[in-house]
Amino acid sequence: MIRLFAGFSLSLLLVSTALAQTAAPAADGKSLFRTRTCIACHGRDGARAIQNYPELAGQDRVYLFNQMKDIASGTRISGKDERGYPRSQGMKDIMHLVSEAELQQIADYLAVAPAPKPRQPETPLDQAALDKGKAAYTQGGCQSCHGPSGKKPLASYPTIGGMKREYLMLQMAEMRDGIRTNGKSKLMLPFAKKLNNEQIELIATYLSQIER
Ligand code: HEC
Ligand code: HEC
Repeated sequence: MIRLFAGFSLSLLLVSTALAQTAAPAADGKSLFRTRTCIACHGRDGARAIQNYPELAGQDRVYLFNQMKDIASGTRISGKDERGYPRSQGMKDIMHLVSEAELQQIADYLAVAPAPKPRQPETPLDQAALDKGKAAYTQGGCQSCHGPSGKKPLASYPTIGGMKREYLMLQMAEMRDGIRTNGKSKLMLPFAKKLNNEQIELIATYLSQIER
């Protein structure tokens, strides 16, 4: 209760400071998300259908906030090629448009935005692949941190059940290969290192069809 109240008065303070500085109405997370170019890549509700982009709607609030800061600072990188890391660079390039307080508001909004339903891949999935994916997830020890079906992670860890297949594959591979090393990634490394490409694909197939 005290914490709630402290949080409340802090946000009042932030709002009044923002009002004092700009004399404009304080923007909430949703309108910030929609006006700071995020939707060009992530869609209007943080749930755009690009298969290799993350689902943001319904993700853990603290995780979202930390990832945005890490992408902005270049600590989290992705998509290595001869130019650098173009995949994460596109987002890094626009992050000067948002302050840390605004990122917090965006994370607050995204965390409670409704997560979309699983998307069917172009080629229909067979039950055998889903079963194998589930077995690989269990054998990989993933549930100890991400919870059963990737839906009940430890506090501040990401929900991975219901994320997009290609995105999941990319992240697992980049964590395994030591490209994504930001935040708490180190904790997952021993588990990621044991995954071969086939297991990564099976796990991603399975997780992508979980309904949140
Ligand atoms: C140019 C395209 C682009 C823009 C603009 C962009 N992003 Fe991203 N965003 C990405 C990509 C690609 C990734 C995945 C990076 C990776 O694979 O490591 C990402 C990752 C994220 C993540 C981490 C998700 C996770 O599950 O780890 C968050 C949170 C996020 N973006 C929020 C935002 C917000 C908020 C904005 C606007 C201020 C924004 N993005 C603007 C392309 C973009
Ligand atoms: C010891 C705890 C732990 C275990 C076990 C673990 N992970 Fe993770 N995983 C994490 C943490 C922590 C992160 C977020 C890292 C960060 O802070 O950037 C993460 C991130 C991920 C992501 C990226 C999510 C996103 O939105 O970008 C995927 C995918 C993932 N884990 C899959 C798996 C799979 C599959 C397994 C089993 C083979 C596994 N993890 C086992 C802790 C763990």
